[in-house]
Amino acid sequence: MSSYYITTPIYYVNAEPHLGHAYTTIAADVATRHARQRGMDAFFLTGTDEHGAKIARAAAEAGVEPRDWVAPIADRFRGLTRSVGAQYDFFIRTTDPQHEAFVQRFVTRLRETGDLYEGTYAGFYCTACEAFYRESDLKNGLCPEHGIEVPWVEESNTFFRLSAYADRLLAHYDANPDFVMPRARYNEARSFITGGLEDTSLSRRSTDWGVPLPWAPEQVIYVWIDALLNYASALTYAREGEDLTARLWPAAWQLLGKDILRFHAVLWPAMLMAAGLEPPRRLFIHGMILGHDGNRMSKTRGNTLDPFPVIERYGADALRYYLLREVGFGQDGPVGYGTLQARYESDLANDLGNLVSRTVAMVTRYRDGVIPAVASAPRIAAVMESAASGYAERMDDLDFTGAIERAWELVRELNRFVEERAPWKLARSAEAAEVAALDETLATLVDGVRVLGVILSALLPERARLILAATGESPDAPAYSLAAPGLGTPGARVDGSAGPLFPRVETLAA
Ligand code: MSP
Repeated sequence: MSSYYITTPIYYVNAEPHLGHAYTTIAADVATRHARQRGMDAFFLTGTDEHGAKIARAAAEAGVEPRDWVAPIADRFRGLTRSVGAQYDFFIRTTDPQHEAFVQRFVTRLRETGDLYEGTYAGFYCTACEAFYRESDLKNGLCPEHGIEVPWVEESNTFFRLSAYADRLLAHYDANPDFVMPRARYNEARSFITGGLEDTSLSRRSTDWGVPLPWAPEQVIYVWIDALLNYASALTYAREGEDLTARLWPAAWQLLGKDILRFHAVLWPAMLMAAGLEPPRRLFIHGMILGHDGNRMSKTRGNTLDPFPVIERYGADALRYYLLREVGFGQDGPVGYGTLQARYESDLANDLGNLVSRTVAMVTRYRDGVIPAVASAPRIAAVMESAASGYAERMDDLDFTGAIERAWELVRELNRFVEERAPWKLARSAEAAEVAALDETLATLVDGVRVLGVILSALLPERARLILAATGESPDAPAYSLAAPGLGTPGARVDGSAGPLFPRVETLAA
């Protein structure tokens, strides 16, 4: 069985979880569930990044100890993950003692291989990024990510010889043109390396909230070194008494936003090389979710979309669909309550929901609920096949929007087919030809709806269960190979007991 290890960034617990975090988590969950349907040995890691000056500062502002601050927020991140329907295999916290011990072993090894040296750092430090900047990196003298002032710091600490890995990193990029996706991000990442790499601090003296450096415990390990290692440390203790590294590493996909590309595309593979581990197979760099006005979401602008009320009103599946359909994975894009409502009504309630309820209602009315035992109309069966293969192919590149488009080609084709065949007219006749045509029409619709239930079970896990149950199938995580015409259970009956898939809701828009 091929392994499919997928990760999200671990999120900072300096503040409450928001829609941006939910976005990456949802994408990773859909990819994981789909891989599992395809028979892969999938493992999904997410979690929280809990050390560093940024979190120490948030705790201090709240007047509590960092250790007491992080636990409840980590719980809320776990809560958001569950609320969006994400089924992670492990939730890592960088304050886990096993992770901390792993980080200490890792830096000890780097010291032994001669990759570390003592030096003095002088430069700018942005606590919001937890990143060091050169003067030439700043925009108008401010942090290029946050637009805030960055203090000058001078500190003697331990350095990692990152510059020594430039040639090996470039060789890795050249040998693996898919290492960073999409292509524009690959080029950007490669240019970081060709632009010249400086050695990086591996420890900090100016904060004590972190993992102590084993040989100089008055310093803590730099939070990005600590954080990146989560992807490897988790495999050593996610399952008690088992080390999953040989089974799952290298990761199939690591998902992240473009805000943290540099760390993942340069520092992380170099760290792995230094430790004799392979880099991940592919990194996917997605864009930023913006407010409906195209600006960065912020409470003061009033352009945020709060995931919790959306889930309460529309359900997690609708949020999953909306985010992955609305914003091309890899691009920036605006989201808001207005377009959410529009997509819910047109794509989900009208196109998909009505198709399912009409199909069930017609089989109930015209055939007493028994699905006619005839083959699907060949033209529509061909669309079922191309939708299933097209969806899978797009998912192989994490093109969620493209994958959804392929599934909706089948939805729309089935809706056209109903209008074309007009079963309500066929049902008025007792002629053999009309009876047979009605049988074929109903069987085709049920078959098509069932295929959609299989295809969509990763994206819409709750509603796909209802779709499969409505067509008389077992709703549990169907193998993707069942997304083909003619594979329904013989003698199955439709079941209309679940009611509408996507009931009418009032918009949350002001
Ligand atoms: N803790 C670091 C990551 C360490 S990984 C070894 C961090 N945390 S974060 O809480 O700031 O999360 C950043 C990530 O959250 C982004 O890379 C992205 O995956 C997600 N997003 C946060 N805001 C987002 C948007 N507005 N839009 C899309 N994704 C966003 O950086």
